[in-house]
Amino acid sequence: PEPGWTTRADVVVIGSGIAGLTAAMRLRKKVDKVMVVTKDVLSAGSTQWAQGGIAAALGPGDTPEQHEVDTLVAGAGACDREAVQVLVNEGPAAVRELIKRGANFDLDEGGDLSLTREGGHHRDRIAHAGGDATGAEIQRALMEAVAANPNIEVIEHALAVDLLLAADGGVAGLTLHVMGEGQRDGVGAVHCRAVVLASGGLGQVFSQTTNPAVSTGDGMALALRAGATLRDLEFVQFHPTVMYLGPDSRGQQPLISEAVRGEGAFLVDDEGVRFMQGQHELADLAPRDVVAKAIMKRMLETGRPHMWLDARHLGAAFWERRFPTILATARSHGVDPVTQLIPVAPACHYASGGVRTDLDGRTDLPGLYATGEVACSGVHGANRLASNSLLEGLVFSRRISKVLPGELRPWQEPVDDGRSVGLVAGAVRRDLQETMTSKVGVLRSAPGLAEAGAMLDKLASETAEQVDQASWETTNLITISAALADAAALREETRGSHWRDDFPERDDVDFAGHFDVRMHDGAT
Ligand code: SIN
Repeated sequence: PEPGWTTRADVVVIGSGIAGLTAAMRLRKKVDKVMVVTKDVLSAGSTQWAQGGIAAALGPGDTPEQHEVDTLVAGAGACDREAVQVLVNEGPAAVRELIKRGANFDLDEGGDLSLTREGGHHRDRIAHAGGDATGAEIQRALMEAVAANPNIEVIEHALAVDLLLAADGGVAGLTLHVMGEGQRDGVGAVHCRAVVLASGGLGQVFSQTTNPAVSTGDGMALALRAGATLRDLEFVQFHPTVMYLGPDSRGQQPLISEAVRGEGAFLVDDEGVRFMQGQHELADLAPRDVVAKAIMKRMLETGRPHMWLDARHLGAAFWERRFPTILATARSHGVDPVTQLIPVAPACHYASGGVRTDLDGRTDLPGLYATGEVACSGVHGANRLASNSLLEGLVFSRRISKVLPGELRPWQEPVDDGRSVGLVAGAVRRDLQETMTSKVGVLRSAPGLAEAGAMLDKLASETAEQVDQASWETTNLITISAALADAAALREETRGSHWRDDFPERDDVDFAGHFDVRMHDGAT
């Protein structure tokens, strides 16, 4: 539809988690006008939900080099080493900057940062806040910082629909669908000189995810439609310990942080057998893909829909102090972790791939930058190391804020590039999620992936009768699902979080490299 209103900003940041708000805060003094647009309220994204914490080599005896090794090992041979070095070397300063901005991390008795451990780390290097409410504290601090800066304009309830492109194929602006009351209601256009995509992940592609309802792959789909390259989409991480709420539970599910295992909890099967022992030198704290696969294998062997996490020995006082959020959530679902085992199963958690960027967050479209989960900077490879996600958003938003002001494009007129998007009916979302979960989920195979492709084609032909948020989101979900299923079919090996029944080994002799996805004539 034609925009009902237009406005201007030098830089538009899409998304309002750690990546988006860090970019906005750092750019605000360097360009005349920064605008943040976000699909729901500022706090609705994934950052708010992060539990375990943020990883950086901040503890005695730890070094960026050791953090680098753990990140590369977790990434299963598919990380970009230079990007990882940027992440681990700049991580400590980035975390200190966050603390200066007002985020209060937990301290030990000596007044130093209290650091814990999670899967794949050989050191205690995870800083946390409020015990297990790290993301909520970071989100609070950044939102307060943004609110104190009236020169950052914020538009909430604004779905970024598509980029407006200039004649050179670069950014000239974007269209928004604002779902609220007032001056900026309905479809509008923002003319701008750069867009920073910080819109998070795609968890809602699957039936069960730790991601909030807003994680519908909008930024990845928008970038794809505009001609940008996406990479590593098949590497979707399934978190091993998501609370199992029963076969009919859909959407966002409660996460039981790896930090609970970091503090001594362990996995058992129905017989009480600690099945992670002997599977990996780090046992219950092996990298996330190893633990998720071991749980799934045990589930398949036993025909059970979940395994169990035993954290009873941590005791009531420890639970209350260290994991108050998880304790309250588990109890609200009728399980008391102090006295009972917690039922857990893997669920979609994180997109390790995304919009391909260089080391400064540049995509291959002039004026389009990407940071945080929406981006594929190369730091995660085939499997993100625990607590590197908040860090990635911080580090790469800082880098973007250093280069972008010097690269600002002149104002450009958008051209009509003939793109048109056929909107898919919101009603197909559930079928889409079930297809993705059963055929493109934790365990994949060629026949299942082919079936998924055919089903997605069929669902994509169900056109929407109205233009609303549900149809836009479903269109984005289906665009990303199709690209993800294609990439998963192409990768004929098991690597990191990509697990193929028919190709159970990692293929280092014939490593196929990375699969890049671009859109041609409306198809990927
Ligand atoms: C967790 O707390 O287990 C999640 C941390 C992460 O995803 O890095």
